[in-house]
Amino acid sequence: MRAVSFSEYGDPSVLTVVEAEVPEPGPGQVRVAVRAAGVNPIDVKLRSGQMAQNMPLSLPHVLGLEVAGVVDAVGEEVTDAAVGDAVAGWAVGGGYAEYAVLSTYAAKPDALTWQEAAGLPVAGEAAVRALRVLDPRCGETLLVNGASGSVGTIAVQLAVENGVTVVGTAGSANLDRVCAHGALATPYGEGLARRVRALAPQGVDAVLDAAGHGALPDAIALRGGTDRIVTLADPAAFDLGVPFLSKTDDQTTQTLETLLGAAAEGRITQPASRAMGLEEAAQAHREWERKSFGKIVLVP
Ligand SMILES: NC(=O)c1ccc[n+]([C@@H]2O[C@H](COP(=O)([O-])OP(=O)(O)OC[C@H]3O[C@@H](n4cnc5c(N)ncnc54)[C@H](OP(=O)(O)O)[C@@H]3O)[C@@H](O)[C@H]2O)c1
Repeated sequence: MRAVSFSEYGDPSVLTVVEAEVPEPGPGQVRVAVRAAGVNPIDVKLRSGQMAQNMPLSLPHVLGLEVAGVVDAVGEEVTDAAVGDAVAGWAVGGGYAEYAVLSTYAAKPDALTWQEAAGLPVAGEAAVRALRVLDPRCGETLLVNGASGSVGTIAVQLAVENGVTVVGTAGSANLDRVCAHGALATPYGEGLARRVRALAPQGVDAVLDAAGHGALPDAIALRGGTDRIVTLADPAAFDLGVPFLSKTDDQTTQTLETLLGAAAEGRITQPASRAMGLEEAAQAHREWERKSFGKIVLVP
């Protein structure tokens, strides 16, 4: 099968299409013919070598944590999926490929395209996890830094649905989209705490940093301390005493089913995604680095 692999850390040009063995599903796993594979910021960070110290990879490595596709083989003990089923889920061993093995999966609702379903597992899990930890309640105010991103967009919608007042940060081009999801929106960057206080004079009860880029000092100023602040993205958290959420504790079938169901019902929508071929993986990473487009999925 064709897969996108890299043998050394480096810029996007290290990504090349290679011929690889079709992977075999282990117990509890399914193999899918991939219809779409999500490209995530973590893929870019892993490829560049930025994470090599904390998450060393065995090279060559095939990237890709999330896919949607059609089951073409099932491992032992699998009772909840059969050959021919359309599913989406978490890939082990790489999703940027024609075939991928999934450890956690759920049925893809007919209402979702392959592209939409493939883009949900990683960002959706992170949003659910961060909200579970922060536990913003009806009537409270939540600040989401990076409210226009894949994670932030889902977090905003889930929080708003629960009666939480959300203030979301975004680039100027995306402020309207954040507002359309029911949040108050403000640009990120210099003067953030002042702008948030103007939008939320009642105060901020919790902060989800789903972007990084140095927003934690403003978050701490708004909260008057580090209580009920989490980041998914800013390593400054370790010095500032803010929890950096890195464990994918909510990578469960139930969470996937909930997210796919909510997306199928239109209760959560994601930033528009763009499909590119496996051969364009390097270009996809370049585009993500240039922030020229939101979500990208690779289509074999
Ligand atoms: N720790 C974990 O378990 C975990 C899990 C999933 C994701 N993450 C991390 O969470 C982050 C977001 O992931 P994602 O998939 O949502 O990425 P994404 O879709 O690329 O979104 C990035 C977000 O960051 C915003 N942003 C860009 N430049 C910024 C700046 N200078 N200041 C503040 N915000 C800025 C973007 O706003 P505009 O596009 O409007 O400019 C957008 O809202 C990534 O760093 C990713 O690695 C961590």
